[in-house]
Amino acid sequence: MKIGILTGGGDCPGLNAVIRGVVRKGIFHYEDDFLGFLEGWRGVIEDKSMPLNLDAVSGILPRGGTILRTSRTNPAKRPDGIERCAATLEKNKIAALIAIGGDDTLSVAQKLHENGVKVVGVPKTIDNDLSGTDYTFGFDTACNVVCEAIDRLHTTAEAHNRVMVVEVMGRDAGWIALYSGIAGGADVILIPERPFDIERVAESLRQRHERGRYFSIVVVAEGAKFSANAQSSQAAPVLQDAEKDEFGHVKLGGVANVLAREIERRTGFETRAVVLGHIQRGGSPSAFDRVLATRYGLGAIDMVHRGEFGCMAALRANKIISIPLKEAISRNRVVDNEMIDTVNGLFEKTANKQAVGD
Ligand code: F6P
Repeated sequence: MKIGILTGGGDCPGLNAVIRGVVRKGIFHYEDDFLGFLEGWRGVIEDKSMPLNLDAVSGILPRGGTILRTSRTNPAKRPDGIERCAATLEKNKIAALIAIGGDDTLSVAQKLHENGVKVVGVPKTIDNDLSGTDYTFGFDTACNVVCEAIDRLHTTAEAHNRVMVVEVMGRDAGWIALYSGIAGGADVILIPERPFDIERVAESLRQRHERGRYFSIVVVAEGAKFSANAQSSQAAPVLQDAEKDEFGHVKLGGVANVLAREIERRTGFETRAVVLGHIQRGGSPSAFDRVLATRYGLGAIDMVHRGEFGCMAALRANKIISIPLKEAISRNRVVDNEMIDTVNGLFEKTANKQAVGD
């Protein structure tokens, strides 16, 4: 069978491990041929591809990024985009397509499926916010990077009696902030799911310093929102750029700087902001992500040969299963109240302070 593969959306450590898993099992067990479309959906619209064989996937397991490159191209935003994708697949005699991506990439996969294309999805995002799967690959690596950064920031914060505010990725969901905050022993963790009251954050830090601590670590997700106040009637995230990309996303960023300024003004504690940005997405995948990504790849090629189209490989209770793409893209998997309550157990309970959530 001739199978197409693409990687779309923001890159993520483990993409190459998925490609390798698909290609190796496809060639060794099913005698498949592969074509890799370049730069996400752009490669399908413009018919840009490269052959994928055993040589092409040799040595890529530990490499970050994606040998197919990626983009945030949305065919649905272009005239005839979906039809052009279907035409490219037909021209190249592609019998099935494996799309590796997050909710944006997979929403296009679903549209193609509705247009008769045989497509299987693989869940990718460091944000870990895709529904229907326990974990997406890339998340573990990102948490390890952030955890190491927090460990390093601890020592410099301690040396200078400072508050360090660390901004991490997480547009709609605070999984990276929460997991790396727990792993790094943060004193305050702010996530998009619970708008925060700046005065209560300041009070948490004052109380900690009154208990004899002279430094603090605050982890904040880029999508965390200041709660509604006299200036704005709605909780809103801090934007770097309000212009929307092809999937309707604004560019977030800068919340750490605003927070650091406010914390210093309200507490008098010297405060610094650090934005980790794309460092979280770059570099080699962790061993956990290499294994998870490989299992997703092996699962996806089996799904193709079982004819499970319009579906996505998912991890549930440590098993790779197949779920409808529709379920995966129906909503973001955000941090739930039960998890927030559990993590709040780590912090002193006081009405006028905010460590994670209310
Ligand atoms: O893919 C999700 C994500 O990691 C978000 O957390 C972040 O807002 C976004 O990617 C940034 O991506 P880029 O700057 O590459 O468009």
